[in-house]
Amino acid sequence: MNISPEIIEEIKFRNNIENVVSTYITLKRAGSNFNGSCPFHSEKTPSFTVFPSTQSFYCFGCGAGGDAITFVMRMENLDYVSAIRLLAERSGIKLPEDSIRNDGRKEVGRQRVLEMNKAALEFFKKSLWDENTGKIARDYLINKRKLSPAVINHFQLGFAPNSFGALHDHLKKLGYSDEEMIVGFLCGKSNKTGGAFDYFRNRVIFPIIDVTGNVVAFGGRVMDDSMPKYLNTSDTPAFKKSKNLFALNFAKNHCEKMLVLCEGYMDVIALHASGFENAVATLGTAITSEQARIFSRYTKKVVISYDSDEAGQRAADKAFKLLQEVGIDVKILKMDNAKDPDEFIKKNGPNKFASLLESSKTRFEFECDKALSKYDINNINDKIKASKDLCEQIAKYPSEVERELYSRKLSKLLDIPVDSILRDVNSIIRKNTYKDKKTEVNELYRKASGIGDRINPESVANIKANKAEEAILGLMMLKGEHLKACTEKLSVDSFITPLSKRIFEKISQAYKEYGKFDIGFIEGDFTLDEISRITRMQSERGRLSINDENVLNEYIDILSSEKQKSMDSDTFDSILDAIKNKKK
Ligand code: CTP
Ligand code: MN
Repeated sequence: MNISPEIIEEIKFRNNIENVVSTYITLKRAGSNFNGSCPFHSEKTPSFTVFPSTQSFYCFGCGAGGDAITFVMRMENLDYVSAIRLLAERSGIKLPEDSIRNDGRKEVGRQRVLEMNKAALEFFKKSLWDENTGKIARDYLINKRKLSPAVINHFQLGFAPNSFGALHDHLKKLGYSDEEMIVGFLCGKSNKTGGAFDYFRNRVIFPIIDVTGNVVAFGGRVMDDSMPKYLNTSDTPAFKKSKNLFALNFAKNHCEKMLVLCEGYMDVIALHASGFENAVATLGTAITSEQARIFSRYTKKVVISYDSDEAGQRAADKAFKLLQEVGIDVKILKMDNAKDPDEFIKKNGPNKFASLLESSKTRFEFECDKALSKYDINNINDKIKASKDLCEQIAKYPSEVERELYSRKLSKLLDIPVDSILRDVNSIIRKNTYKDKKTEVNELYRKASGIGDRINPESVANIKANKAEEAILGLMMLKGEHLKACTEKLSVDSFITPLSKRIFEKISQAYKEYGKFDIGFIEGDFTLDEISRITRMQSERGRLSINDENVLNEYIDILSSEKQKSMDSDTFDSILDAIKNKKK
């Protein structure tokens, strides 16, 4: 892989880190930097920081860090080259084809898959509206599922004909290769011939369109009771299931008040058709924490409207937790006489659904209902169990006012004095705090002693040296003079831990070749975790205002004396070995 430094610089110049990051999350100015809620882990207080001066980001909560390129790699789940392509496209930079070589083989990029998906969608739509081919599918959607042509067009529903090669041949004509169709998940690969065959056959097609309007994936439903009911696009260079939501492209314009989370595509479509354009669904999987964070970027309130069967209610429980963790006000909607929102609306009409939304319940009310259906509170033992379960729930609320209010509710519900309930709640809180403290202390201890440094395991045995190494490397990346001085004074052998050696090698290589350094030049050679570590070195040095020559020299001294020690002990070990061997 070889991307010229000019191109990387151009891309980074045109893709200011503040701008890149703020297309995904909201940033607030904090002095010369910006803060925001980290998109890579769940947090309530923002510890994600963007440093315009070094054009980098670092999260003090989870340790993720890097530059605009790594940010996009993480956000969009792309490799280095695809991230560069994406940023180039967004800023209108044309990449010369030979500027990117990837082990001699042209990989199938995100943009190519998106183009191909768009062509496939046109094909699916055309098949649906084709007089003959599409009759069976139109019959299903319009007559059986009662969708109007307007709604079908709004969601761009389509039809994959009952053929192993119709889409394949169509895409082939447009210049797409078998490999591209397979990577893009529009075709499967035949075990026998190795050729490509249409993956979606005889199914109605639901395109998944992201918030920028790209066709990122497809879901295909059978028109009878055969199995599997749905086929979905697996992860491709343009798509990750766990990071997308169905219909968010529409719902994003109707989400100020709240979003409604459903289980099925058909539920979402029925809701939109009835005027609830704030409905979305996950893509055939339980909600992930990544999706919970997407919700928190778009809205403050989510009403979970899952199927009323047991599986749906269990899934709701999980969604509740994940959404609450990211600070969303979560409510749950209960339907009595229908299995899902689609059926409910058909039976009872939109107004009834609106009142269900109005009367949707808080987590605590939901938990109370659950406890009441699980336990018989006229039985003493059951009543104690119910009280215990619900006290655990109350203990989870960070606000004392909320705890007080819920305790009163519980007191009425179970006919137990509120003081007893509050005492139980507080004792649970004390127990939990103790547990939290203990894990926190253990965590700190682990960090302080460097135990289990996954990214640079050797740092554990060389704490002092590694601190000096990180400072030196950080200073090199921060200041041109330090970069020059260090590449002259130091060599790979001056360093002790393998990661530091590698970083130094790459930095000095880049400096020798291009006469300067940018983290973008070396990113392709490191993992995302390693890039985070490198950014930490840089941002920790950047935070201290003293980064002068004296400081650098002190660290160089420390490193060289540590190096001497480690060599001495190596020599000592080998002398010891030699003596032992002689004795034998
Ligand atoms: N799903 C899936 N694969 C399956 C079954 C379901 O990916 N074999 C996903 C789909 O995203 C689907 C959702 O789970 O939309 C909910 O499933 P289900 O309730 O069975 O489907 P609906 O979309 O509600 O369809 P219908 O109303 O036709 O039953
Ligand atoms: Mn359903």
